[in-house]
Amino acid sequence: MKEQLQKIAGEAELACKNASTQEELENIRVRYLGKKGALTQVLRGMGKLSAEERPVIGKFANEVKEMLEQKIETRVRELKSLAKEMQIKKETIDVTLPGVRFIAGRKHPLTQVLDEIKHIFVTMGYSVAEGPEIELDYYNFEALNIPKNHPARDMQDSFYISDEVLLRTHTSPVQIRVYEAMAPKLPVKIIAPGKVFRRDDDATHSPMFHQVEGFLIDEHVTFGDLKGTLLTFVRKMFGADREIRLRPSYFPFTEPSAEVDISCIMCNGSGCRVCSNTGWLEILGSGMVHPRVLEMTGYDPEQVSGFAFGMGVERIAMLKYGIDDLRHLFDNDVRFLSQF
Ligand code: DAH
Repeated sequence: MKEQLQKIAGEAELACKNASTQEELENIRVRYLGKKGALTQVLRGMGKLSAEERPVIGKFANEVKEMLEQKIETRVRELKSLAKEMQIKKETIDVTLPGVRFIAGRKHPLTQVLDEIKHIFVTMGYSVAEGPEIELDYYNFEALNIPKNHPARDMQDSFYISDEVLLRTHTSPVQIRVYEAMAPKLPVKIIAPGKVFRRDDDATHSPMFHQVEGFLIDEHVTFGDLKGTLLTFVRKMFGADREIRLRPSYFPFTEPSAEVDISCIMCNGSGCRVCSNTGWLEILGSGMVHPRVLEMTGYDPEQVSGFAFGMGVERIAMLKYGIDDLRHLFDNDVRFLSQF
C-alpha cells in the first residue's frame, strides 16, 4: 500500500509541475484528493490493514495528502502571480498615445439669447413668470380684448385643441394670468419668456417659436417709461450706439400701440440688403396696456397705468448672429450650433 501511495504522490507531483492553468490544478485536486480521487480510494482500503500497519500507513498517507495539498496551493499561487505579471506587461501605458478628446456641449444659441434677455431685464428689477403653453381661448384672446370673430385673430393662425383650448399663439396671456393673480397689488414688473405656436412654416416662420413678454403696471407709468426701458434693453442687447424708432401700430390689448425698430445692425442705418434699404429693423410690438384689460383683471385704469411689449427670440437671435434662415435654429446640426 505504501508503494501505491508513493506512486500516487510521484504522479501527482509531476502533474502539478506541468500544470499551466488554475483549471488544470483544480482537476488534479479532484483526481487525487476528491471524493473519488486516487488517494481517497487508497485511504478507504485502510480498514483491511492489520492493527500494526494501520497507524504507519495512516501517517504516511496523511503526509502524502498534506504534501499534495501544499504542492497544489504553491502552484496555484505561482500561476496567479505569473498571470498578473503578464497582465501588467500587456497594460503598460504608452504615454505617446493621443488623449481621449472630451467634447464639451454648449447652450443652444436660442437659450443663450433668452438668457441674455432675461439677464438684462432682471438687472432692471423685473421678475420672471411663466404661463401654460396649452392655453384657454379666454386668456389667449378674449381677456386681451380680442373677442370671437375679431379680425385680429386672423394674424395669429392657431392650433386649436377644442373650441376653447389652443396652443398659445403669443406670451401675452401671461399678462392676464399675472394681473389676475396680483390685482390690486403694485407694482407689477414681470417678463414672461416661453414657447408659442402658430400655423406658419417658412424661412422666417416656424410653427413653434419663442417670445418674451414684458409688462409693468404701477401708478404714473408713461409712454416715456416704455421708450426708455426699450432703449436701455436694445443698447444692452445690440450695442451702445443703437437707436430705436417707434411706429404707430395696432394691438387690441394696448392703446396706444407701437412697433419698435432698431437702427440696422449691419449698415448702422444707412440702408442695406438686411434692412431692405430702410436703415431700420423691426424687433418687437409694444404699447400702453389697454384700460379694458386692466379693468377685466381687477386693476382700476383711473388709478394705475402700465406698458407691455412682446418680442420674438428667434428674430433677435437671427439679427444678433446674422443667421439668414430660421430653420437652422431647429435642425440640430452641430456644425451650425457649435459656431455660437
Ligand atoms: N402679442 C403680440 C404678438 O405676438 C406682441 C405684442 C404686441 C405684445 C404688443 C405686447 C404688446 O405685450 O404690448 O404679435
